[in-house]
Amino acid sequence: MVARKFFVGGNFKMNGSLKEVETIVQRINDAKFDGSAELVVAPPALYLLKIQGELNPPAQVSAQNSYTEKSGAFTGEISPNQLKDANVHWVILGHSERRSLFGDTDKLVADKTKAAVGAGLSVIACIGESLEERESGKTQAVVERQLEAIANEISESDWKNIVIAYEPVWAIGTGKVATKEQAQETHEQIRQWLAKKVSQSTADETRIIYGGSVNGKNCTDLSNAPDIDGFLVGGASLKPEFIDIVNSQK
Ligand code: G3P
Repeated sequence: MVARKFFVGGNFKMNGSLKEVETIVQRINDAKFDGSAELVVAPPALYLLKIQGELNPPAQVSAQNSYTEKSGAFTGEISPNQLKDANVHWVILGHSERRSLFGDTDKLVADKTKAAVGAGLSVIACIGESLEERESGKTQAVVERQLEAIANEISESDWKNIVIAYEPVWAIGTGKVATKEQAQETHEQIRQWLAKKVSQSTADETRIIYGGSVNGKNCTDLSNAPDIDGFLVGGASLKPEFIDIVNSQK
């Protein structure tokens, strides 16, 4: 049995002024962590380097997106190589808001993932079904399609630099958290898919974290599920309860 280090990401999305983000980070710096979780926070890109300088290690910063190319005429984009150059080692890719609002297709997410791991970054790769897909019994098919697109572009050894974030779209920002049973069922299916399509060791070692309305109250119950290896937290990552979520592993 491989011990997977509990992982908690805070996705600030497009929230907060510089002052507010610095206050959140100060709170994280002042908090007492039991050391069992790997902690990564993703402030808006504009604040990344400032926050990187202020965040106490071992916590790290993550970008919320990066592009497929190393450099060039791509106004508004950040390349994974630029992140690496700036010592930002993590990037969130495939978030449902990118997929639904900014046209990030399965293929584009896969290409971005390939470029990111190729540049030496670690990726929080987000997948998840919509409410309609869940209600029509397509959850497993959707997450497997999203995973397959990524698996087609990367090699087995690249998976050690990937954390999979299962974020059902209907649970994101809605206050409607998946039950422990719902999340565990899909996490288990994802792990079985990794075993079948990539390798048993990848399945054993890859962290599969849950995102969608995680808060200080529901995190402990969710963290007890055997295949939930941590969380990707949106709204609650901006609040004091984020500390409880980071410390929620039992
Ligand atoms: O990436 C985190 C996320 O989308 C979940 O957001 O606000 O439901 O915790 P939230």
